[in-house]
Amino acid sequence: MAKITCIEDLRVLAERRVPRMFYDYADSGSWTESTYRNNASDFARIRLRQKVAVNMEGRSTASQMIGQDVAMPVALAPTGLTGMQCADGEIKAAKAAEKFGVPFTLSTMSICSIEDVAENTSVPFWFQLYVMRDKEYLGNLIDRAKAAGCSALVLTLDLQIIGHRFKDTKNGLSAPPKPTLKNIINLSTKWRWGLGMLGTKRRSFGNIVGHAKGVKSVSNLAEWTNAQFDPALSWDDVQWIKDRWAGKLIIKGILDADDARLAVKSGADAIIVSNHGGRQLDGALSTIEILPEIVDAVGDQIEVHMDGGITSGQDVLKALALGAKGTYIGRAFLYGLGAMGEQGVTKALEMIHHELDLTMAFCGHRKVTELSRDNLIPADKVFNPYLG
Ligand code: GLV
Repeated sequence: MAKITCIEDLRVLAERRVPRMFYDYADSGSWTESTYRNNASDFARIRLRQKVAVNMEGRSTASQMIGQDVAMPVALAPTGLTGMQCADGEIKAAKAAEKFGVPFTLSTMSICSIEDVAENTSVPFWFQLYVMRDKEYLGNLIDRAKAAGCSALVLTLDLQIIGHRFKDTKNGLSAPPKPTLKNIINLSTKWRWGLGMLGTKRRSFGNIVGHAKGVKSVSNLAEWTNAQFDPALSWDDVQWIKDRWAGKLIIKGILDADDARLAVKSGADAIIVSNHGGRQLDGALSTIEILPEIVDAVGDQIEVHMDGGITSGQDVLKALALGAKGTYIGRAFLYGLGAMGEQGVTKALEMIHHELDLTMAFCGHRKVTELSRDNLIPADKVFNPYLG
């Protein structure tokens, strides 16, 4: 196998090794996928300012997210069906994050349960919550995260109804996959994945099946979410959840300055500027485009984090320079997981760390906490009339 040098190498390998429906589930956006694509391509449009002859010795990417020490401000994002990219995927990713010293966020829609991940790790992880109609189940879920020692609740506000992802519809996404002819043919070429799955009992939604009343299986994800998630979710519910949780609260899915102000009013500890990886409202701005406006509106009152489109340490640096105090990678670690399990997640983190560290040095800094907009070159300064 050729040497892995970047996240794209992991993506290519994951595409080969992961069954089509789960690879597509991760690597897709809603409708035309324009927001999904812009998340990444807008990062590429930002130019960096190089500095020379500054001392580059003794660099550190360490900082804090919501008061917790992190080896670099890059957490693993909550991603649904992580345990379908690779057997026991959430446990493997959480272990890699723990060893690296960055937070792992477990999705409500995970395959391994909260308790399972807690039993198999030794530092607290974060738990991402979706708001369901069944408030008794929702309360229990919050209590389970508390009992498992989770050190932050990441409350997602942008998925009460699910964006239409064409590939999932076409693939008939379900966990575990249904034994259709198309699936059997595709799975027969994924022996590594299949062996892993045969060796684990974790093959369905561990936080839901057997916990939510009457739910024996979640075969059609989109149908299930539409039936169970609460479309009437409001800021009053956020208050109720905050009181029940009584710990660090991060609000995910903010794309508008007024919503960011409401999040500040709610008393949350941080917000995540997020368009759900371009999987919800296609046509929404990329997160790196809207980030400065939100930082300017609330950055002095609440910690602003961002996710969406990060595939390198350079992207992380650009987000930090624009005022984010923390970033999240979703697909970038899922590709690692699908390609090489825990080792692949470690590889993704190492590569992002290496790129962040080198880029920071080229930009003339020794600490990520020193980065600012001065490290970037605004669009009106990159215009060269000779380029035509
Ligand atoms: C969340 O679970 C998603 O599919 O985006």
